Amino acid sequence: MVDEAHSACVIGKNGGGVDEYFGLEPDDIDIKMGTLSKGLGTCGGYLAGSAAMIEYLRYNVPGFVFSVGISPPVAAAALAAVRLLRADPSPVAALQRNIAYFVKKAREANLNICLAGETAIIPILVGGDTEAFRLSGMLLERGVSVPPAVYPAVPMGKSRMRFCVTSDHKPEQIDFAIEQLLEAAKEAGIELPEA
Ligand SMILES: Cc1ncc(COP(=O)(O)O)c(C=O)c1O
Repeated sequence: MVDEAHSACVIGKNGGGVDEYFGLEPDDIDIKMGTLSKGLGTCGGYLAGSAAMIEYLRYNVPGFVFSVGISPPVAAAALAAVRLLRADPSPVAALQRNIAYFVKKAREANLNICLAGETAIIPILVGGDTEAFRLSGMLLERGVSVPPAVYPAVPMGKSRMRFCVTSDHKPEQIDFAIEQLLEAAKEAGIELPEA
């Protein structure tokens, strides 16, 4: 089973995710799960796999057994996003360029980007939860919206800022975001762990 939350619409030439990136056959992965909230820009998630597995899940997962399935407008928005990307995958190349630029700039600033490299949500290690929340607030005031990821989503003491790069960002905006992080950390007396 592969979690494609960070890879769908992001890696592979056309944003096809891990299959396209690693040159896999469609049934090499038994179960693929993903979110609609990142590359597809809506809300909710999906599971993909064999027809037999999907049939089994339809009769067993709570979202179908009860009445809390995804709403039609949200599903339609995700479908429209898939169709747009299929018709014109050029935003994927722009996104990949922006990710590479952000990663390069973050490395030059000696920031610790954890295991990031080729995907669009780039964490920068901060350490404490309080410091991550404080920096997030300070950055918002400076015009950069970056949510913190804190315990229990990450191990205690390994909080990070989750920068989200999009295909529309301009290099100047990426420079600005990193500059603002460095300045805010300095102003708050927070030492960002080095790479
Ligand atoms: C690896 C991974 N899987 C799944 C999810 C869940 O996505 P959602 O927030 O849409 O439920 C996330 C969200 O950040 C994630 O990072």
